[in-house]
Amino acid sequence: MHRQAERPPAGQADPVTSGPEITLPPIYSDAGSTDDKEITADPVNTDNNPTDCAVAFLDAFLAQFRVAQFLAKHWERGPLYVRDQSEDDGLFGLDAAHGTGFRRREGEPLVDITSAVVTGAASGIGRALAARLAAAGTRLVLADVHAAALAQVAAGLHATAIPTDVADPMAVQHLAAAAPDADLVCLNVGIVGTALGAPWEADPREWDTLLAVNLGGVVNGLRAFVPRLLASGRPGHILITASLAGLATFPGGGAYAATKHAVVAVAEQTALALADTPVGVTMLCPALVRSAMSATGVDPADVADEALHAVHERRFAVVPTAWRAAVLRRAENLVRGQPPTPPTPA
Ligand SMILES: NC(=O)c1ccc[n+]([C@@H]2O[C@H](COP(=O)([O-])OP(=O)(O)OC[C@H]3O[C@@H](n4cnc5c(N)ncnc54)[C@H](O)[C@@H]3O)[C@@H](O)[C@H]2O)c1
Repeated sequence: MHRQAERPPAGQADPVTSGPEITLPPIYSDAGSTDDKEITADPVNTDNNPTDCAVAFLDAFLAQFRVAQFLAKHWERGPLYVRDQSEDDGLFGLDAAHGTGFRRREGEPLVDITSAVVTGAASGIGRALAARLAAAGTRLVLADVHAAALAQVAAGLHATAIPTDVADPMAVQHLAAAAPDADLVCLNVGIVGTALGAPWEADPREWDTLLAVNLGGVVNGLRAFVPRLLASGRPGHILITASLAGLATFPGGGAYAATKHAVVAVAEQTALALADTPVGVTMLCPALVRSAMSATGVDPADVADEALHAVHERRFAVVPTAWRAAVLRRAENLVRGQPPTPPTPA
């Protein structure tokens, strides 16, 4: 396996981490070195004679042992981030698939969440996220426009409640000020509206409201929290609840569908803009979830688990397995110039 990591110019910190500057050992930093050759040795190549195979195995083992030694030596110096461009699965906790880094031990979260904010926390997915985070000992600041229901949820989870209308930029700034040490910000609010039909059938006020809450809520959250997270210099994460309705276009999606497509674009833009920072982005795209929004669907607790798992892995998108082919079909139709077809699950 070939592994080549980026090394910042001498004297400069790695741009993906605010942690200590680390000089990478030759095995990661010097392409073409003997170490590099050792780790690319192919111990299962049947063309090799048995002696070559044994030597290759030993070389690969020793190379990995040296990496382990190096990592162990720097363990206590705080988070260490190593970019890895390869598609292989990770060595010693390197997050190869997502190119971000590792922390302490393999399997442990990449983001230490000690404090989190959840919007739309009084119900459904937001409440489930809050419950999961509280169970993991996370300090919580919860927001919702529905103050009474929010107070009840917050009391049950020993969380701070900040009644907030996410469509109001000043209210969201106030929320961010109340959670200065948040590592994880879940921008989760969304409303479905009343007119799920053709775009021209929805009332102009419905369009305004859905754009203000669904799209504005996410943008206001990013404006309030991202500068704070970046200024803190600590690793952080933003979880944005979009929807499958933002990745595949369902007939009768109304203004809701358009706002969720916009939320997907905003989440992607955010991930691109924050790519070289310690702040990660995850975009949650559930299909139907049982909540105040939908009487049918999967359990919001399962959706919360999947979302938090993706956050811990620093994975960008969470897309239900059954709908992945439908998302690909939409893209195929687009590039072939074909009209849209109604999405169906696999
Ligand atoms: N339920 C589904 O089937 C489903 C599917 C895909 C995506 N989603 C998305 O998941 C997110 C959560 O939805 P849910 O299913 O948990 O719905 P929900 O209605 O159960 O919860 C939404 C919460 O947001 C709050 N809220 C509404 N407007 C607000 C505002 N302006 N400011 C602050 N809080 C506000 C509500 O009071 C409620 O507590 C939404 O973004 C939704 O679009 C839901």
